[in-house]
Amino acid sequence: MNERNSNNLTWHDGYITREDRERLHAHKGAVVWFTGLSASGKSTIAQHLEKMLYKRGCSTYVFDGDNVRHGLCSDLGFTPEDRTENIRRIGEMVKLFVDAGIIALTAFISPYKSDRERIRALVGADRFFEVHVDCPVEVCASRDTKGIYEKAKAGTIKEFTGISAPYEPPQNADLVIHSDREDAVSAAKQVLALIEEKGIIVERCQVSTIDSLV
Ligand code: ADX
Repeated sequence: MNERNSNNLTWHDGYITREDRERLHAHKGAVVWFTGLSASGKSTIAQHLEKMLYKRGCSTYVFDGDNVRHGLCSDLGFTPEDRTENIRRIGEMVKLFVDAGIIALTAFISPYKSDRERIRALVGADRFFEVHVDCPVEVCASRDTKGIYEKAKAGTIKEFTGISAPYEPPQNADLVIHSDREDAVSAAKQVLALIEEKGIIVERCQVSTIDSLV
């Protein structure tokens, strides 16, 4: 935020804290950040994971690149600056979801390491899980039903990730899924095991403190 825009603004905390909301949800707020090429399988894995979490009574939301670009980020294209701004806005949004005690699952190419690292720092490393959906570009192109890779190869679509724009793979992802060799359901199960192990999903507890908060 620049100096001018941040003048005369104060962050207001409410009566209810993140910890209170987490007690209500009976799990912690967190972000599972899927990153990888277009058609690598990020959204499909996120959707399966959401179903698994839903069955356990968890409060979740999936943020998908195409969906967010219809609204919140509809003014942005695919230049490096626009992609960074896209990921910055999403980072601020998921931070609020973590504060709301929700498990946010995101499926954005997010090709730049520095953008992803900024979000890890913003959200907190203990609540941010980076999952690299690793898939060779030829496999992604062969899966593509939208014909977008064909257009990128023909040069009709410019600055296309993996063809004419870079993708910086994570060096220290919390999990790497090889989606050319693993199916989406078993990939989602691995992510579920990870966030269980990290204590995001805890045993359902009694919300006995709520009355005393009024
Ligand atoms: S990101 O790079 O800013 O993280 P994001 O995940 O929001 O990208 O959007 C990716 C979606 O936009 C994909 O569904 C992809 O098919 C589509 N798309 C359109 N143009 C491009 C492009 N030049 N590069 C990558 N994806 C593109």
